[in-house]
Amino acid sequence: MMKELGFSLQLLVVSLVMAEMVSGADEFSRYDFPPGFTFGAGTSAYQVEGAANEDGRTPSIMDTWTHSDNSVITGGANGDIACDQYHKYKEDVQLMAEMGLDAYRFSISWSRLIPNGRGAVNPKGLQYYNNLISELISHGIQPHVTIHHFDLPQVLEDEYGGWISRNIVKDFMEYADVCFRMFGDRVKYWTTFNEANIFTMSGYDLGFLPPNRCSSPFGYFDCTKGDSSSEPYLAAHNIILSHASVARLYQKKYQSIQKGYIGLNLLSFFFVPITNKTEDVIATQRANDFFMGWFVEPLVRGDYPEVMKKNAGSRLPSFTALESETVKGSFDFFAVNFYSVSYVKDYSEGLNVEPRDYKADMALDWNFMQENASSKYTSLPSFEFPLTPWGLQGVLELFKQNYGNPPIFIHENGQRMQRNTTLEDWPRIQCLQEHISALLDSVRNGSNAKGYFTWSLLDVFELLDGFRSSFGLYYVDLDDPGLRRYPKLSAEWYSHFLKGGSITPNAGIELKGNWSSLSSAQVMK
Ligand SMILES: *[C@@H]1O[C@H](CO)[C@@H](O)[C@H](O)[C@H]1NC(C)=O
Ligand SMILES: *[C@@H]1O[C@H](CO)[C@@H](O)[C@H](O)[C@H]1NC(C)=O
Ligand SMILES: *[C@@H]1O[C@H](CO)[C@@H](O)[C@H](O)[C@H]1NC(C)=O
Ligand SMILES: *[C@@H]1O[C@H](CO)[C@@H](O)[C@H](O)[C@H]1NC(C)=O
Ligand SMILES: *[C@@H]1O[C@H](CO)[C@@H](O)[C@H](O)[C@H]1NC(C)=O
Repeated sequence: MMKELGFSLQLLVVSLVMAEMVSGADEFSRYDFPPGFTFGAGTSAYQVEGAANEDGRTPSIMDTWTHSDNSVITGGANGDIACDQYHKYKEDVQLMAEMGLDAYRFSISWSRLIPNGRGAVNPKGLQYYNNLISELISHGIQPHVTIHHFDLPQVLEDEYGGWISRNIVKDFMEYADVCFRMFGDRVKYWTTFNEANIFTMSGYDLGFLPPNRCSSPFGYFDCTKGDSSSEPYLAAHNIILSHASVARLYQKKYQSIQKGYIGLNLLSFFFVPITNKTEDVIATQRANDFFMGWFVEPLVRGDYPEVMKKNAGSRLPSFTALESETVKGSFDFFAVNFYSVSYVKDYSEGLNVEPRDYKADMALDWNFMQENASSKYTSLPSFEFPLTPWGLQGVLELFKQNYGNPPIFIHENGQRMQRNTTLEDWPRIQCLQEHISALLDSVRNGSNAKGYFTWSLLDVFELLDGFRSSFGLYYVDLDDPGLRRYPKLSAEWYSHFLKGGSITPNAGIELKGNWSSLSSAQVMK
C-alpha cells in the first residue's frame, strides 16, 4: 500500500524534514496583519454536505469513485452522509460565528444545483445554497465559494468524457453563470477550480482520484480507461480554457455590479533540491514549472512553461493566439493550498524512455525521493505532517519573484492527525501558530497575501483517508445519529487569535486552563 501510493504520499502527505519547533517565535496578533486581511476555515461540498441522494442531487464523479473498488484509499468510506451540513448548516454557521471566523470557504455541488449538468436548475439545490449564503452573511461571515472541487456531474463524464472534451467549456460557463446570477449579490470571492494540478495529475495520470483515468504501466490501480501520456495535459488545457472563459464572463457581465473577485486554486509544493548540484537545482525549477507553472504561466503570461513544451512535445496542447489572449490575465487572485515541502533529485536520463506520462516528463528521480519520504514518514507521529512553515514563505516568495506578486489567498493549511476522540490537538495548534507567524513575516517582507484559511472547519470526509484521518477544528461524532460537533483545543486557540488575542509560545497552554473546565461539560463518551 505504501509503495503503491508512494507518489501521492510523497507529494500530498509527507515531506522529508522533521518538524522544527519554533517555540521562540515573537508574540503576534491578527492586528499585526494589514487591515482587511481575512482569516477563515474551509470545507468542500462532497466532503461535508452529505444528503448525496436527496432533493434531486445526482451523482458526481466523487460519488462514483467512492462507491467503486478504486476507493480503497478511503478505507471504503464515502460522503453519502459526511457531516450532514446540508441539514445542519445553521448549527455550523453558529459555530463559525462563535469562533469569530471572518470567512467560510466552501464549494457548490454542480450536480445538486444542476442535476443534468446543464439546463434546468434544481429549486431545492438553489434554495440550499441561498440559505447557507444568507445565513453566513447575516452572521457577518464572508462566503468564499469554489465552483468545482473535484466533483463533476457523472452525467457529463458519461456523455462526453468530462474535462477531456472541449464540450465542457460551454457547460462549465453555463453552470458558473447560474452561480454568479443567483449568488453573486452576496458572494464576493469566487474560485473556479480547487487544486487544478492535483485533479489532473491524480485523475488522469496516476488514476487514484476520480475520474480514475490512467493507462498501464503508469496508474496506481488497474486502469480500464484513459491515457496517462496525454490526458493529464488535455484535461488541464480544458480546465485552463474553462477557467479563463468563466473569469472573462464574470469580468464582463458581473464584476462592475457585484464588485467581487475571481481566481484559481492550486496545491502548492515548495520544492527544495536534495543537493546543491546544478542538475538538482535545475530539476527543482523544472518541478516547479510542471506543478505550478503549468497553470500559473498561462494565466500570467499566456503560455505553458518552455520546459513542459520541450519534454511533453505534441502531447501538450497549444493555445491559439486568441486563446492565449483570453487566458492571459484572467484572474484577480491565485489561491494556494500548502501542507509541506518536497525535496527534488534530478533524473534527466528518464527523458530517453518512451512512452512517458506527465510524471516521467518531469524527469525527477521518484524512487529516490520516495525511499527517503517513506523512511522519514514512518518515524513521524501517526498521520502528522512534518511542519515546514518556511516552505509557505518560499511559495509566497516564488509568486512574488516569478509571477508578478499577485494577490494570494492561502486556501488550505492545517495538520493531519489520526481521527479519534482526542480533543487536545496540540500538533494542530503548533501547525497553525507556526504557519500564521511565518505568513506574517512574508507579508511584512512584501508578499501580496490577502487571507488564510485553515483546512478544515470540521472533521470531514477526507479524500485520501476517508474518516481515518482528521484536519478539523471540530470533531464530529459519527456514532451519534445527530452527528454532534465537539470543539477541539485548536478551535479555542483559533478563536482566541480571531478575536484579537495575542499569540505567544504559551498561548495554547493558557487557553487550556479555561478549556478544560469548559470541556468537562462536553466530555466525550
Ligand atoms: C546548498 O547551499 C546552501 C547555500 O550555500 C546551503 O544553505 C544548503 O545547506 C546547501 N544544501 C545542501 C543539501 O548541501
Ligand atoms: C535518502 O537521501 C540520502 C541523501 O540525502 C541518501 O544518502 C539515501 O540513500 C536516501 N535514502 C534513504 C532511505 O535515506
Ligand atoms: C489519537 O491519535 C493521536 C495521534 O494523532 C494519538 O496520539 C492518541 O493517542 C490517539 N488517541 C486515542 C484515544 O486513540
Ligand atoms: C524578502 O524579500 C526579498 C525580495 O523578494 C527576498 O530576496 C528575501 O529572500 C525575502 N526574505 C525572506 C525571509 O523571505
Ligand atoms: C480565561 O477565562 C477568563 C475568565 O473568563 C478570562 O478572563 C481570560 O482572559 C481567559 N484566558 C484566556 C487565555 O482566554
